[in-house]
Amino acid sequence: MALPSFIIVAIDGGAASGKSSSSRILADRFNLLHVDTGSFYRHITAELLRRDVAPTDLPALRVALAAMQFSTRLCGRSAQMLIDGQPAGDEIRSQRVNAHVSHYAAIPEARHALTGYQRGQTDVARQHRFRGLVMEGRDIGSVIFPDADFRFFLHAAPAERIKRRAAEGGQDSIAERDRLDTSRKTSPLTCPAGAVDIDSTHLTLAQVVEKMSVIIATKLTPA
Ligand code: CDP
Ligand code: CDP
Repeated sequence: MALPSFIIVAIDGGAASGKSSSSRILADRFNLLHVDTGSFYRHITAELLRRDVAPTDLPALRVALAAMQFSTRLCGRSAQMLIDGQPAGDEIRSQRVNAHVSHYAAIPEARHALTGYQRGQTDVARQHRFRGLVMEGRDIGSVIFPDADFRFFLHAAPAERIKRRAAEGGQDSIAERDRLDTSRKTSPLTCPAGAVDIDSTHLTLAQVVEKMSVIIATKLTPA
């Protein structure tokens, strides 16, 4: 059996379903570039808020997005998006950004502005000699990399996810973001056909990662 020389792992799921935590561990374990696309949407949201561009003002939004130059630098194994050479600040995890990000992310122009940049992370991973990448978000296995070697969809009961975010000390509009993310017309949050669906409500993070690792390792080991 031919082993894939460069692997793409896609992880999607709702807020606080465990995407970032599991992605980081998989990145370490399998020498992958970790790409948190939620941080990209958060970064453009912070930038648009800073420039006072409302999600309803499409002409201004188009101009602002077209003028943004995206580049990448590595932060450990993670890809960090720079806008006009600047990294995101702590405000991308703020309550304000939590409250606005799904409104901007629902706009097709905002999604299209990031599509090529996200797919281009494969070049970043190759340049830095990673074995592949693990990309997490809402539409990675459905839209960005529908042919990914491994596609996982994480879900967990809303009450459990709210508890997890609270334990991190954050205030988050999880239910509202889920509602907006699943109901938007363009690239809604959904478990794509053929993805491995994992309900982590009663699983520890280690158990989730173990399930994923077994699936990945099986395909990477010669039969
Ligand atoms: O970490 P958490 O799951 O709370 O959110 P995130 O992954 O940082 O994503 C923040 C928001 O960005 C989501 O609620 C979506 O509105 C948007 N997003 C998206 O639309 N598509 C992606 N691939 C990733 C994030
Ligand atoms: O990236 P996403 O918003 O999907 O979730 P996260 O930031 O990776 O996870 C939210 C919190 O839930 C973290 O503190 C994890 O350690 C914790 N957690 C988890 O991710 N998976 C479990 N099965 C149990 C707890």
